[in-house]
Amino acid sequence: MLVSAKEMLAKARDGKYAVGQFNINNLEWTKSVLLTAEELKSPVILGVSEGAGKYMTGFKTVSAMVKAMIEELNITVPVALHLDHGSYEGCYKCIEAGFSSIMFDGSHYSIEENVEKTRELIKACAEKGISLEAEVGSIGGEEDGVVGLGECADPAECKMIADLGVTMLAAGIGNIHGKYPENWPGLRFDVLESIKEAVGDMPLVLHGGTGIPEDMIKKAISLGVAKINVNTECQLSFAEATRKYIEAGKDLEGKGFDPRKLLAPGAEAIKQTVKEKMELFGSVGKA
Ligand code: 13P
Repeated sequence: MLVSAKEMLAKARDGKYAVGQFNINNLEWTKSVLLTAEELKSPVILGVSEGAGKYMTGFKTVSAMVKAMIEELNITVPVALHLDHGSYEGCYKCIEAGFSSIMFDGSHYSIEENVEKTRELIKACAEKGISLEAEVGSIGGEEDGVVGLGECADPAECKMIADLGVTMLAAGIGNIHGKYPENWPGLRFDVLESIKEAVGDMPLVLHGGTGIPEDMIKKAISLGVAKINVNTECQLSFAEATRKYIEAGKDLEGKGFDPRKLLAPGAEAIKQTVKEKMELFGSVGKA
């Protein structure tokens, strides 16, 4: 069932668990995430980056594929189709394409401009019942081989954006996308606590869910995080399973070169990663 993320996140916040956002890149990814969510009776958010949207030939293709897949696979758990780190223009394209949730990443604008653009998008989303995630304090990550540590959001700026009426808020607390470097000092729980105090009931979003130690994930959830994004870990498990399959020479045996066979181990590996994350986040059985 394609729904906005609003209700599932309010339930997660109240129930002290988090809904996983798993980024999708193709049909196999999407199928693995949906089947696992259904099997575990967990709500789920499918994340689509602008790059992944482009790869899949456009947001309309993604939207049509996801909607049809939910129907054909008889998926009954709540599913949100969510634009990840959307640009201002990208947000409008996804609203148009039938996404049920979007993220506007205005963290690189001045806070005034971030507020202005977020305010406009809240209106556009409200008309269609779409949930909106905003971001304050940019999330670090690898760019040109250099891993930048994540910024910490200013709680007062978080309150400014939360008060506009967004559905959920991503606030940097030292988290980064991709693998964490050896010298990563960990999540800033003091900052998370101040943000929570400033924004009250607003469900908080933790980006960079790959490689954060389990105890930190649990603590973040206890402090108000209701949505956790995972991308790199699915990519790594997919790549590793595919590598093993190829190294075993199976792709050359019989009809092993058939893409349906070649991609199958990676798709199974994603299911396992999604399952482990849903168990860790506590969303199993919450659909
Ligand atoms: P990872 O790639 O680190 O799992 O982060 C995903 C993410 O936050 C997408 O927005």
